[in-house]
Amino acid sequence: MGRPANRVLNGLLDRVGLPLLIAHRGDSFHAPENTLEAARLAHQAGAFAWELDVQPTRDGTLVVVHDDSLTRTTDVAVGYQGDPRGKPGFLVRDFDWSEIASLDAGSWFLDPAGGPRSARAFSTLESLSPSWRSELASGRVRIPTLAIALELTRQLDWLVNVEIKACDCNPETLAAQILAEVVHADMADRVLISSFDHALVAASAAIPGDHVVGLLSETAEPGIVDHALALGARTLNLGVEALGKSPDRDQALLADLAVRGLPLLIYTVNDHGPGGMADHLRELGVSALFTDDPRRGGRP
Ligand code: G3P
Ligand code: MG
Repeated sequence: MGRPANRVLNGLLDRVGLPLLIAHRGDSFHAPENTLEAARLAHQAGAFAWELDVQPTRDGTLVVVHDDSLTRTTDVAVGYQGDPRGKPGFLVRDFDWSEIASLDAGSWFLDPAGGPRSARAFSTLESLSPSWRSELASGRVRIPTLAIALELTRQLDWLVNVEIKACDCNPETLAAQILAEVVHADMADRVLISSFDHALVAASAAIPGDHVVGLLSETAEPGIVDHALALGARTLNLGVEALGKSPDRDQALLADLAVRGLPLLIYTVNDHGPGGMADHLRELGVSALFTDDPRRGGRP
């Protein structure tokens, strides 16, 4: 298999020593996930790349949001109180970009009650400076479009993993739309596309260009490496629970991947302490870890 001119794949293949760190939705420990603010902090922390989640709005704009619903990470339930779209849960696919563009995507992160993936939940709230807190609470933090997120990554001379959320749509059309934006931003050689949706993996891999594609899976079923290769994937991105069932199985998987030239990326690992999960995965020889804490708790 020849090496494409892709900086993410080449960085993974050329890695020596520690696994590379990919900031999961940016620096999620210190800024609201999937925002430009989280991306900038992750870049400052020295992460190899950042990961973002992408899905289309009702009017077809590609936006960077993880959940199907806007409720957890914006103030939609306040601004759109009484709107019938609240019934199914304020879904991204029920809103136009012009509506999503005006939502506050920062204040939720400072929730003192500590909702999922808030600073309180990550035990970082007290460490945030007053000026950073007031910036995040200003109402100016927004959900970015994919185009803006790609543009920031290019300006930072950096790399990104674009995870396409499974969608009730034509996979070829969505993959083509995403890759057209990647090419338009002149970012094809700096992008790893990935998805849990195998049709989206295959559709993205079938489009010619310098991008590479990874297969995402929560588990590592027998034959997964063959399956990834058959879909056109060049990396395998597994949930941390997929490993650790048996040391022999883990080592056999790593050996198989090494022979086929596929890097193994593991999500989501926040335990960077001595003897923790990150240490274990380093010993196993994984290529990269997705982490919410690209500062690794300050560990060198
Ligand atoms: O791409 C790694 C990871 O982001 C996959 O899971 O649910 O956090 O998007 P999720
Ligand atoms: Mg993701």
